[in-house]
Amino acid sequence: MKDFRLPDLYDRVRQIIPAPDWMLFEDDIEAILALKSEKNAVILAHNYQTPEIFHGVADIVGDSLALAREAVKVDADVIVLAGVHFMAETAKLLNPEKTVLIPDTYAGCSLAESITPEDIALLREAHPGVPVITYVNTSAAVKAASDICCTSGNAVKVVESLGVPKVLMIPDEYLAQNVARETDVEIIAWRGRCEVHELFTREDVRAMREAWPGVTILAHPECPPEVVAEADFSGSTAVMSDFVGERKPARVCLLTECSMSDNVAVNHPAVEFVRPCNLCPHMKRIDLRNIREALENGLHEVTVDPAIAEDARRSVERMLAI
Ligand code: 13P
Ligand code: SF4
Repeated sequence: MKDFRLPDLYDRVRQIIPAPDWMLFEDDIEAILALKSEKNAVILAHNYQTPEIFHGVADIVGDSLALAREAVKVDADVIVLAGVHFMAETAKLLNPEKTVLIPDTYAGCSLAESITPEDIALLREAHPGVPVITYVNTSAAVKAASDICCTSGNAVKVVESLGVPKVLMIPDEYLAQNVARETDVEIIAWRGRCEVHELFTREDVRAMREAWPGVTILAHPECPPEVVAEADFSGSTAVMSDFVGERKPARVCLLTECSMSDNVAVNHPAVEFVRPCNLCPHMKRIDLRNIREALENGLHEVTVDPAIAEDARRSVERMLAI
């Protein structure tokens, strides 16, 4: 068998990364590991990053909530965010004195694109006195115009923490509708959609149950409500991962972004993963090559306009305090 330069690392991922692919990755992985110590840098990677990033070079991995929480604790000069732009902005808000890099500035998000601070001003006019809860998948300017943030991992808790009968929950319409089913608080939604999760249908779920008897189906709450209703369980990417670890279903399907199943499968070789997934084109802009370039050349530094940073940070910190 071929001698790998990083045999221990390859041992962890061998069942999901073919040897020829790994051999192409090794050079960048070695360089990134060296650059991290040289620059005193850490890599925060979202659960949707590819396995060679997630298992090969990341220091901290998780869902949006975990990445925000861990960003506060980071003890390094440089944070590289292997994820999308709003995640890097959140890390910067929580670490104003650190250098935060995103390897590709075009790594956006359809939800973040769907709403502006001006839209929030109009919503506040139409619903005076109703607090605005903003999903973290938004720009810092939108966070600054909001009262508090939430993620898919804590949305119900955040809604109920406010002690009010009605809230505005923006911008993900499906997340808002899915949360509405779990609380008595009235929720007014916006029409934003995740372009990855909106593609799953109830028919997909039914077809999967027929084709894969006994499969346990987990749906991300950015999926349409009828998909979540048809699934066995719903939760953020971290909650899905924990579900697989704790319940160890014999056969499971994660209705979410494609890399998620790969990353979870590494830790649970006995679980069979059925994979009718959708790719996020924004998450997939990040690869080993541009992470390496980001570390080598300090690219691309994320900054937040000081005029909005304080208010945006307040919305994120209110969420983290819950
Ligand atoms: P979570 O990892 O917080 O569940 O978010 C999913 C997502 O779509 C992030 O962009
Ligand atoms: Fe945005 Fe959806 Fe991609 Fe997450 S998966 S970054 S919510 S488009």
